[in-house]
Amino acid sequence: MSDFVRVAVLGDVPMGTALKVTVNNRAIALVNCAEGVFAISDVCSHADVSLSEGEVIDCTIECWLHGSQFNLRTGLPLTPPAISAVPTYEVRLVDDAGTTHIEVATSPTPVSTDGRPQS
Ligand code: FES
Repeated sequence: MSDFVRVAVLGDVPMGTALKVTVNNRAIALVNCAEGVFAISDVCSHADVSLSEGEVIDCTIECWLHGSQFNLRTGLPLTPPAISAVPTYEVRLVDDAGTTHIEVATSPTPVSTDGRPQS
């Protein structure tokens, strides 16, 4: 079971946007879309590019440099040129004194041999 760390308040990440945060010296993109708030490594698997600077499209995030779109639940690329998944992290929303806080797991979600996160 992962530990969680509080990284932002929900209002910091408006719907349809991404925010870069740092957890244990790892850059993570928080993404708020219609299906919830997700945390995915901020580093594209194709090159060292910040995914949080990309565009949120239908609950995916599109790398701004070459256009690969990544599934926010699995980290898997949906379009080339990226071919490898980026790590994902569990997210939980915690209400505290009337404010909704975003907490992220300190370790990435384990993946199985086919690269998909294990539940
Ligand atoms: S750097 Fe992200 S798709 Fe090329």
